[in-house]
Amino acid sequence: MTLEIRAILGEDEEEILWVAVRMRLTLMEVLGNEVGEALYSMDWLDRRVRYHLDPLKCLGQIFLCVLPDGRRLGYTIVRREEPTLGLFSTTYVDPEWRRRGVARLLVSQGELWMRGLGLAQSVTYTSETNRGLHALYQTFGYELIPGESGFVKLIKAL
Ligand SMILES: CC(C)(COP(=O)(O)OP(=O)(O)OC[C@H]1O[C@@H](n2cnc3c(N)ncnc32)[C@H](O)[C@@H]1OP(=O)(O)O)[C@@H](O)C(=O)NCCC(=O)NCCS
Repeated sequence: MTLEIRAILGEDEEEILWVAVRMRLTLMEVLGNEVGEALYSMDWLDRRVRYHLDPLKCLGQIFLCVLPDGRRLGYTIVRREEPTLGLFSTTYVDPEWRRRGVARLLVSQGELWMRGLGLAQSVTYTSETNRGLHALYQTFGYELIPGESGFVKLIKAL
């Protein structure tokens, strides 16, 4: 199985929708179906994807993991959050493709992108119950710092 990582094709409407739908699925998985679905409209999520692709608004990138036949398996959204801090905004892998190293490739690519910008630290946030995500980032050396309202921060020096 050959997995490839590439940046999103910003002009591809269907690809933008593909990510926006999975942003909603991520929220539903992390926050629960009811809360996650109600939090943002599809229109807002669509605009949020585009925000990361507009250099006038944000220094960001969206990476996809794809098969050679083009099928998309997962994505990560990264952006410069502060002058020396990179943020993994969300990372999601379609359920049937989990535990096959897709997220590992996406996080590697995101960190590479951050290092290319000269960022000194990388961070992500999630719920304190999202053990899979904790384990993923901890394999990359991130420190887990408990936060407020059931959220945790995972952070490391790049
Ligand atoms: C968390 C998530 C992105 C992991 O994606 P994935 O492609 O399955 O992860 P990988 O296969 O690359 O895993 C790499 C390593 O991370 C750790 N890991 C990943 N998922 C794990 C899980 N559910 N439980 C324990 N460890 C896990 C393991 O160490 C794993 O290595 P191993 O499989 O050799 O043991 C995926 O489960 C997901 O999309 N979850 C829902 C969305 C989400 O919570 N996103 C974050 C929002 S803040």
